[in-house]
Amino acid sequence: MSNPSIISVSNLQKHFKVYKHHRGTLGALRNLFTRVATVVRAVDGISFSIRTGELVGYIGPNGAGKSTTLKILTGLLVPSGGKVNIDGRVPWQARRAHVAHIGAVFGQRTTLWWDLPVIESLDLLQYIYQIPPSTFQHNLDEFRELLELEPFLNTPVRSLSLGQRMRADICAALMHNPPLLFLDEPTIGLDVVAKERIRQFILHINRERNTTVILTTHDLSDVEKLCERVMIIDHGKLLFDGQLDTLRTRFGGKRELVVDMAEVYADVTIDGATVVEQQDARVTYQFERDTITASELIGKLSTRYRIRDLMVREPDIENTIRRIYEERLLENVSI
Ligand SMILES: Nc1ncnc2c1ncn2[C@@H]1O[C@H](COP(=O)(O)OP(=O)(O)OP(=O)(O)O)[C@@H](O)[C@H]1O
Ligand SMILES: [Mg+2]
Repeated sequence: MSNPSIISVSNLQKHFKVYKHHRGTLGALRNLFTRVATVVRAVDGISFSIRTGELVGYIGPNGAGKSTTLKILTGLLVPSGGKVNIDGRVPWQARRAHVAHIGAVFGQRTTLWWDLPVIESLDLLQYIYQIPPSTFQHNLDEFRELLELEPFLNTPVRSLSLGQRMRADICAALMHNPPLLFLDEPTIGLDVVAKERIRQFILHINRERNTTVILTTHDLSDVEKLCERVMIIDHGKLLFDGQLDTLRTRFGGKRELVVDMAEVYADVTIDGATVVEQQDARVTYQFERDTITASELIGKLSTRYRIRDLMVREPDIENTIRRIYEERLLENVSI
């Protein structure tokens, strides 16, 4: 593709030393003299690049290393090894310049001032980032409407509901027009309506402003609705990097064809598919996409039986990803 890379990450590593603590009074004394360290490889040799305008899902089970990666990319953490280049900058070396050109939302905690009303937090950001008044006003007008901020613009951040706080945080992250947005669990704890509103907003920003977005989430509907490309990490390693469709095709397991026959047939077996359920005139077949296509199967069936209706069921993405987590099906598969 023609877009240049805005992010390039090569063999990124972050190791944390974790000290084992002895318990009790004697233990506390021992802690003073002997500290046994173990090393957690939170990020263990990850490489990828992201082009301008991409919207990428960065997913993985708890403790996989997602937040650690995002903290390095936003300049909050210094890695133990590897290279990162974001729009010509090394995040942890050029922190000031870097934060001026990115937006970041960490869903678990706010970046706004706890005791200030939302609008005053935004005013402070205008001052800190030296946002020109016209840009500030333009963005405020746009975000106020899209994120429905009006009812709580004058409420102190500490009094906001979780959904309101998230909207305020996302607004704050974008006031200075960053070309790059990092979202660490932007929909965590939100109800379905609030999630949908945030998804629509992320899509809008990505499409209208060509903002590059990386987001982590545990809600796979976020990924299905927003991201063409998905990266799956576990134990600090990249297990998959590619299109969501590819993931489904290559690792999705069997597809199903549910057929409503016009009458009940005694023998409904057919080459290339397995009958997994038969209830009156409704027959469910399972088939592998490598063996037969849905249309071939339907063609075969329709020459033998009279068909009233049919439906193809794709394996759902949630199960596919769970299988990958559980079975570690992949090792560094890049597409
Ligand atoms: N400051 C730290 N000190 C020691 N260990 C840490 C530190 N930060 C993270 N870790 C460890 O690094 C690993 C990766 O953590 P990280 O927060 O990146 O996971 P995550 O993928 O964001 O998980 P979650 O989905 O639960 O948010 C975990 O084992 C965690 O305990
Ligand atoms: Mg996390």
